[in-house]
Amino acid sequence: MLKKKIEDICNRQVEREGYSSNLYLAMASWAETSGFAGIAEWLYAQADEERGHMMKFIKYINERGGKAIIPAFKKPETEYTGVEDMFKQVLKHEEFITASINEIVELTLAEKDYNTNNFLQWFVTEQVEEESSVMTILDKLRLIGKHNMYQFDRDIMRLRTSASDEAETT
Ligand code: FEO
Repeated sequence: MLKKKIEDICNRQVEREGYSSNLYLAMASWAETSGFAGIAEWLYAQADEERGHMMKFIKYINERGGKAIIPAFKKPETEYTGVEDMFKQVLKHEEFITASINEIVELTLAEKDYNTNNFLQWFVTEQVEEESSVMTILDKLRLIGKHNMYQFDRDIMRLRTSASDEAETT
């Protein structure tokens, strides 16, 4: 049985992962309607992953005797000033999610909830992969500059980390 404090913070993470999915959907829609089909594909795939993360928390909370709460989500921005600025926002958001996961890990240690701590280790690894993947994209964007977006858009799906995809299927 989950302690209430752990159940509550895991439900907070349900909202954060669900919002992440919607945020990347909003970015994907912006990219798709701005002529960046490849970037949109990357973001749609990322949105699916985030929904998967939300589902992992929902299932875990319910399996451990708690009750997952499905929240309303804040509406993400619909317009972005450019691809690089948008990916900077993705990185900032992923850093926020990493800090959020770490906060739950700290609480599980304080509460001696080793089962939840074990459940969270997948997310700890996943966040390293996600931040690294976005940093690679930002590095590439800096290298190619603003004038070769056609090539970047064509190639971005190759930058998806296989470890992240593999982890998602386990
Ligand atoms: Fe599920 Fe990208 O955090």
